[in-house]
Amino acid sequence: MSKKLFIKTYGCQMNVYDSGRMADVLAPLGYAPVSSPEEADMIILNTCHIREKAAEKVFSELGRMRAVKAARAANGAGTLIAVAGCVAQAEGQEIIRRAPYVDMVFGPQTYHRLPEMVARITRAGGKNARVLETDFPVEAKFDELPKESASPGPAAFLTVQEGCDRFCTFCVVPYTRGAEFSRPLADVLAEARRLTGAGAREITLLGQNVNAYHGADGQGNERDLATLIRELAAIQGLERIRYTTSHPRDMDAALIAVHGEVEALMPFVHLPVQSGAERILAAMNRGHGVKDYLGIIDALRAARGDIALSSDFIVGFPGESEAEFEATMGLVRSVGFAQAYSFKYSPRPGTPAASLADQVPEEIKSERLARLQELLSAQQKAFNKASLGRCVPVLFERSGRKPGQLVGRTPHMQAVHLDAPASMLGRIAAVRLVRALANSLAGEIAASPATGAPAADSAGRAFA
Ligand code: 5AD
Ligand code: SF4
Repeated sequence: MSKKLFIKTYGCQMNVYDSGRMADVLAPLGYAPVSSPEEADMIILNTCHIREKAAEKVFSELGRMRAVKAARAANGAGTLIAVAGCVAQAEGQEIIRRAPYVDMVFGPQTYHRLPEMVARITRAGGKNARVLETDFPVEAKFDELPKESASPGPAAFLTVQEGCDRFCTFCVVPYTRGAEFSRPLADVLAEARRLTGAGAREITLLGQNVNAYHGADGQGNERDLATLIRELAAIQGLERIRYTTSHPRDMDAALIAVHGEVEALMPFVHLPVQSGAERILAAMNRGHGVKDYLGIIDALRAARGDIALSSDFIVGFPGESEAEFEATMGLVRSVGFAQAYSFKYSPRPGTPAASLADQVPEEIKSERLARLQELLSAQQKAFNKASLGRCVPVLFERSGRKPGQLVGRTPHMQAVHLDAPASMLGRIAAVRLVRALANSLAGEIAASPATGAPAADSAGRAFA
């Protein structure tokens, strides 16, 4: 009998990828995805622990799911509730203790064991059969997961690396995702070929520290991200390659060179810097200084002139002075970002920075964040405005909210809304950018004057 599965995903793109893989692993057990918890025989919350109030958010969502389970039970339907992801990893015991209606709690390294967990609960008929799986198993989950589902969409994600050995002092990832692990080169290439064969035109390589990638090549050697990107670029039909998230320390000359040589590698790099103050970078254990970061940006721009940059910032790290915050503002002014994410420092239990004495008061963090965001948003607007009037290749990714509209992305990750037939989905065509909206752009299909055909080949080369 077919059963229904509802997954709610929080946090990063890796969680989005993981949710897809959980659906894949449950498909052979008869679970088909649905979009509301009320219809679901199994509800999974795939959680994120990176910043504030993560656990509270999960508990309040669990409260709602408890009511759904009770309502379904009143109609004679059973519901399994599961908590996955990094909150499960970090607070597993607490969830089991505080939420007795939760059936399964499991961390990110155990998804391949889901069928076994479900079987354990089913065998026990629901009585005292709660599962807590938060270890880091020695066998690689990627080897055990089934092949991904058939319809990835035009812009697909592919996890190539997981975990992190950098131990930035503010970050929970090394604790929740575990030690850095890279998938073998051949596995990644095989998955990329399958995704491309199933319609993906763009692949974003995912990893918590993706440019630390060092996958085995089957001949006893390790291959870096630069090599992986060159091999991916040879796959027929794969027009666009991206990678995220990178660490400046792992941004080496080989990877920078690839930006100048592989046209399919999109000219957009997300490279978190976190702070523009030397002392704070050292206290964060980032392993690089401001000059190192600026040097990388210069080298990237020298390799590919049209490269645009994105970053992550944390304001109010313990001990951050006004002058140190101003140094961050200075760095932002001197780089000029196409977009960026910025956060108030949030003490994560168990991380070194959480126990530092000189925590910055909340009002100061809020005030600094507002100033930084104003600057970043002005830069984003200026970047978008500068692209108006240009004709750029857009990959049409999905339908827009309004009928007859599609949404796509430029090489610089800008979302573009435009009127276009659904038959354009999954294709790349030349689009003239005509208007800047709040967080996106409006565009029009650009036809070449001579032929009426879109003024670009499928990879988006040769533009006006
Ligand atoms: N507080 C605030 N922001 C954080 N990030 C990671 N940990 C914390 C924290 N404790 C931010 C960093 C990272 C992004 C994914 O989340 O900027 O790059
Ligand atoms: Fe966290 Fe990224 Fe630092 Fe690793 S490199 S500890 S994932 S912020």
